[in-house]
Amino acid sequence: VSLLITNISELVTNAPRETVRAYSPGPFEAISDAAVVLDAGRVTWTGLAADAPAADEVVDAAGRAVLPGFVDSHAHLVFAGERGAEFAARMAGLPYSAGGIRGTVAATRSASDDELRSNLARLAREMLAQGTTTFECKSGYGLTVADEARSVAVAGEVTPEVTYLGAHVVPPEFDGDAAGYVDLVCGDMLAACAPSAKWVDVFCDEGAFGADEARAVLAAGEAAGLQPRIHANQLGPGPGVQVAVEAGAAAADHCTFLSDADVDALAASGGTVATLLPGVEFSTRSPYPDARRLLRAGVTVAIASDCNPGSCFTSSMPLCVALAVREMRMTTAEAVWAATAGGAHALRRSDIGHLGVGARADLIMLDAPSHAYLAYRPGVPLIAGVWRSGEHVA
Ligand code: NIG
Ligand code: FE
Repeated sequence: VSLLITNISELVTNAPRETVRAYSPGPFEAISDAAVVLDAGRVTWTGLAADAPAADEVVDAAGRAVLPGFVDSHAHLVFAGERGAEFAARMAGLPYSAGGIRGTVAATRSASDDELRSNLARLAREMLAQGTTTFECKSGYGLTVADEARSVAVAGEVTPEVTYLGAHVVPPEFDGDAAGYVDLVCGDMLAACAPSAKWVDVFCDEGAFGADEARAVLAAGEAAGLQPRIHANQLGPGPGVQVAVEAGAAAADHCTFLSDADVDALAASGGTVATLLPGVEFSTRSPYPDARRLLRAGVTVAIASDCNPGSCFTSSMPLCVALAVREMRMTTAEAVWAATAGGAHALRRSDIGHLGVGARADLIMLDAPSHAYLAYRPGVPLIAGVWRSGEHVA
């Protein structure tokens, strides 16, 4: 059955106008007084409401805006426990450090598969209700062969975008033997995880892994058929972004502390997206990176949540868009593009992040007339409807 959504005040397509077939997301693009037709899980027509073809079913958007579903390209959702007290202590003046990850590792190791599954399902539902129709999900709180293997397996039950992050931190049983742990990450642990994952990631920062270790992890992952992405330059300046570009990573994530050389390397990379995670700066009281500096240089920018129990426990892409606009100096159009098409680029996906003809019918309706309201009305639940593969799911 085909579905016509009409009387749309603003249809954000990120695709060439009218019925032109779009094979991948283009620049920010929107149609006023628009309509869209969905059929068999795909977008089959976009254009002016006045020109819309007939369809089996009709939804009247009554002057609301319709956007591509959010593509959250960075999240850590397989874990147990919580770290609310650590957040409260930070807000009272303590700094964030990578060390807190170990608390979640202990809780995750002692959780049952079903507990991990139900935590993950709750977060996935929470994301969908806020308009996220695709999300990436990392392991990284198991850090044993068995716990990482079950983490990627459980993640694979809810998303195809599964990332092996055995190199999150060195676990306590390898204290003083980081090299031994990297060998495990590149050896037996990788072998156990690669069949269930698409991506390999490494936390390259102070208190986690250095440049050579990061290179080794990404190279081993690639040899096992995984594609590289990285946590880089979150806690301070460092080599992460350079390692990402050298490795041809799909994305370098965080980018909180960038040198001019880092910005230049991203701009020249021809494919490494800078993924900004404004919820992390918010939740760790860190300085926000300047998105304008990246955009001016021609870097492709994505926005993602980084939802995790430590550095940022929000799953809300609307909040991230609002923060990116207010604190990272993005325009509303740039931020919405980065949270949709940008995320698709960061996952090397051409079927999502836009509403060109042929795209997956993943879209959200706002209880507002334009995309700008995501930042103009921060914290207000504006997601009035969500369709995923053409199904009305929220
Ligand atoms: O992306 N940077 C590394 N990992 C997570 C934080 C994990 C945690 O604190 O539990 C992040 O911020
Ligand atoms: Fe992260």
